[in-house]
Amino acid sequence: MERPFPTVAVVGLGTMGAGVAVAVARSGRRVIGIEADEASAARALARIREATAHAVARERLTAEERTGLLARIAVGHALDAAAGADLVIEEVPERLELKREVFAELDRICPASTVLATGTTALSVTRIAAATARPDRVLGLHFFNPVHSMKLVEVVRTVLTAPQAAEDAAAFARDLGKEPVAAGDRAGFVVNGLLFAYLNQAAAMYESKYATREDIDAAMRLGCGLPMGPLALLDLIGVDTARTVLEAMYEQSKDRLHAPAPILGQLVAAGLLGRKSGRGFYTYEAPGSSKAVDAAAGPTLPKAAGREVRTVGVCGSGTMATGIVEVFAKAGYPVLLAARSQEKAERAKAQLAKSLERSVARGRLTGEQRDAALGLVTPVGRYAELAGVDLVVEAVAEDLAVKRELFAALDRIVRPGAVLATTTSSLPVISCASATSRPQDVIGMHFFNPAPAMRLVEVVSTVLTAPDVTATVLELCAKVRKHPVECGDRAGFIVNALLFPYLNDAVRMLQEHYATVDDIDTAMKLGCGYPMGPFELLDVVGLDVSLTIEQVLHQEFREPGLAAAPLLEHLVAAGCLGRKTGRGFRDHARR
Ligand SMILES: NC(=O)c1ccc[n+]([C@@H]2O[C@H](COP(=O)([O-])OP(=O)(O)OC[C@H]3O[C@@H](n4cnc5c(N)ncnc54)[C@H](O)[C@@H]3O)[C@@H](O)[C@H]2O)c1
Repeated sequence: MERPFPTVAVVGLGTMGAGVAVAVARSGRRVIGIEADEASAARALARIREATAHAVARERLTAEERTGLLARIAVGHALDAAAGADLVIEEVPERLELKREVFAELDRICPASTVLATGTTALSVTRIAAATARPDRVLGLHFFNPVHSMKLVEVVRTVLTAPQAAEDAAAFARDLGKEPVAAGDRAGFVVNGLLFAYLNQAAAMYESKYATREDIDAAMRLGCGLPMGPLALLDLIGVDTARTVLEAMYEQSKDRLHAPAPILGQLVAAGLLGRKSGRGFYTYEAPGSSKAVDAAAGPTLPKAAGREVRTVGVCGSGTMATGIVEVFAKAGYPVLLAARSQEKAERAKAQLAKSLERSVARGRLTGEQRDAALGLVTPVGRYAELAGVDLVVEAVAEDLAVKRELFAALDRIVRPGAVLATTTSSLPVISCASATSRPQDVIGMHFFNPAPAMRLVEVVSTVLTAPDVTATVLELCAKVRKHPVECGDRAGFIVNALLFPYLNDAVRMLQEHYATVDDIDTAMKLGCGYPMGPFELLDVVGLDVSLTIEQVLHQEFREPGLAAAPLLEHLVAAGCLGRKTGRGFRDHARR
């Protein structure tokens, strides 16, 4: 097949346009760069020269390639030059009227066969197309910043875009070494549509003082493996840009979860736009700097003195209990592993031995360390044995009746003054506390799976938790090399309250046939640097577990946008629960 679009015009050579021009020229194509006036054209050319020189210095490009590439880019300021292009990519500032003017002009200048693409982030491609007499040959080509390193391109089709034009644009993107995903014309497309709703919730969470900015950011990095926390990312993107994208999303969806959090408007009004202005959610060394100067360096420090913890009890014999026992034993704490029967406790210890063995095989632990850790763990078949411990972590089934019964038993058994912690991920900690006569000693310690590997612990204080109990757990986390974040006792805590609505939005996108499972997963991995796409993650977590968490969140906040997507309910009803049953959003059995 012939290479699509041998000559490409790029209109607007700012941050995005200059990057796109270089990427296109690199593929061997001729580029007609067009700026607003002579002075901007000169600046744009200087920008392109500088960027490519930088690429040579970084060894991403040879000096020879650079010379060839620059020879293929002509920069001017007459839009008429676009007449010679097979494809025009518009990258002017994000203003609808400006873009419509440019498109109306291009429509007049370019032959009927020329495809016109807009680089808009949040404007309606359909409205831009309507400024021309060729809406079938108008589409969106949404590159990501910085263009040279971001592989994703969203190819946006309106209802009027000819399928051939979209296919050619996708082939063109592939030819630039990019990964195209298909999207319909909706504010935010795939990536920003999913990302900004999440960022908005994080901003609202910070605004409501539910957790500190450092804790919100650390929770999402350490709990989900995201490359950046949401508030630091908002500062990078620009608070003003985020607000504009959210406004556009709300305009279309009328979903309150897309209505920009008031704090975003306040920051914009105050000129605190993020890194570019030197201050946003964080304060930076200088405008444009990535170094935050007022961010706390480490985890939250206790505000009171904690109680002494010398011995620990862990209730349960499942994955979480065994993992938590491993964490404490490796840090040198004697641990009583308490299960409903001696046999179950012994089996859990055998699981632990296997896990430690794997660490030895991987060179992460010495044989001596393994023996020492195992030696600290005593399996017991009766909770009565926990009488003398200083802290109990409960990790039994996620069932409130079961947990309440256990807490009532611990209340009778465990010595006064001991800390009683639950590792629940979706039940109210206060309901565990109220099953005891000492709610001040009860707290949430939400570990993540697998507990030995995941550094995050959400420390959940109820309205009745004593400050020294919170302090005890914060101190203990540091001693067992975990990163604690502090939050209140409400559904989802920090991580799940931000993660599951995003996963639910992805399911809704799929359900509405807006994009495919593969395209959505690819888009989030390449566009945001996420370790897994939403459907990969849902299949790993389990669709039933995900549905429960979404129902709990909806029940707590009553936000219509949080209602679980019917497709998720259907899959769970059909027994498609993800990897564990061989089928979820993907068929794992056949792979
Ligand atoms: N910056 C990002 O992270 C990013 C990412 C993806 C998409 N986008 C989108 O890409 C588009 C361009 O954004 P940007 O960040 O490169 O903006 P920018 O302000 O850096 O660049 C815009 C350029 O267009 C030029 N220009 C203005 N009017 C013009 C006209 N009539 N004719 C020709 N050139 C004109 C300006 O001189 C400027 O150089 C926007 O639609 C934006 O939403 C931006």
